[in-house]
Amino acid sequence: MKNTLNQIIKGDTKTELAKLPDNFADIGVTSPPYNKGEKHKGWLVKNVEYDNATDKKSEHEYQAEQIAVLDELYRITKEGGNFFYNHKLRWDKGRMIHPMEWLLKTKWSIRQEIIWDRGIAANIRGWRFWQVEERIYWLCKPKNSNLIGKELLSKHALMTSVWRFLPEQKNEHPAPFPLQLPLRCIYSILDDKKKCTVIDPYSGSGTTLLAAKMLGHNYTGIEISDKYIAMAEDRLKHFESERAVFNGEMEKHVVKETFEERKNRGVYNHHNKNKRAELKDGLFGC
Ligand SMILES: C[S@@+](CC[C@H](N)C(=O)[O-])C[C@H]1O[C@@H](n2cnc3c(N)ncnc32)[C@H](O)[C@@H]1O
Repeated sequence: MKNTLNQIIKGDTKTELAKLPDNFADIGVTSPPYNKGEKHKGWLVKNVEYDNATDKKSEHEYQAEQIAVLDELYRITKEGGNFFYNHKLRWDKGRMIHPMEWLLKTKWSIRQEIIWDRGIAANIRGWRFWQVEERIYWLCKPKNSNLIGKELLSKHALMTSVWRFLPEQKNEHPAPFPLQLPLRCIYSILDDKKKCTVIDPYSGSGTTLLAAKMLGHNYTGIEISDKYIAMAEDRLKHFESERAVFNGEMEKHVVKETFEERKNRGVYNHHNKNKRAELKDGLFGC
């Protein structure tokens, strides 16, 4: 087999994943195409149009493909390995489509649903409250049937399940995620491990690959567009120019105060008392 480490494989992800061996990856992070359709959605909404792929399939075909891709990823991931899958809630003619609809049909064990609060989003229409969040699903491949798995180190676990960072702005790819996102996923899981293998099966402008490289791991990307592969390769070559974002994320992984120290300081009682007072004053009422 060709060397696939520290490379971006050009091709369709389902076909290319099938060529990778079992036990290939320790962890993966991805954001697949969301199947949002390509029709014009109004003056404020920037349509996502990929260079060499459609974002408009029947929902049935889309979900079947995502299940097949996720199950291939499960096969190539080592036991005890993890995968972070970024997606969002969508609506089709008023019916909400939740990623759980297909995630529950995959082989993965779902550990957590993380909210990514982007703070802003283009679609401002009155059908629903302004949707400014996306989701990140932390999926696990159990080792020895142990579904509970390993605990995170406190410096990572003390972060909440709501992640707040703005969408990426300085990137010409139509739908990149910010570098902080894959950095947080990979660093939190592989902190105490050296030279692991990270995969992104829809690698786009290479954000996950960059995060892996900056954290000292091997990476493999799969991407269907030559244009985005060239973008990613250029980013990987000039990775030092994104050092400030890297440092900013690393600075967040610190233990200022453990849960036990907070408990001993009585911060929970104090916090609960304040919350109750706010409720009584009607501040949460409307
Ligand atoms: C949401 S974007 C990923 C962006 C990436 N996370 C980043 O930060 O740049 C999805 C990517 O999947 C690619 N893609 C779509 N269909 C594909 C397929 N069947 N096989 C491989 N790549 C595909 C698109 O070209 C696009 O770059």
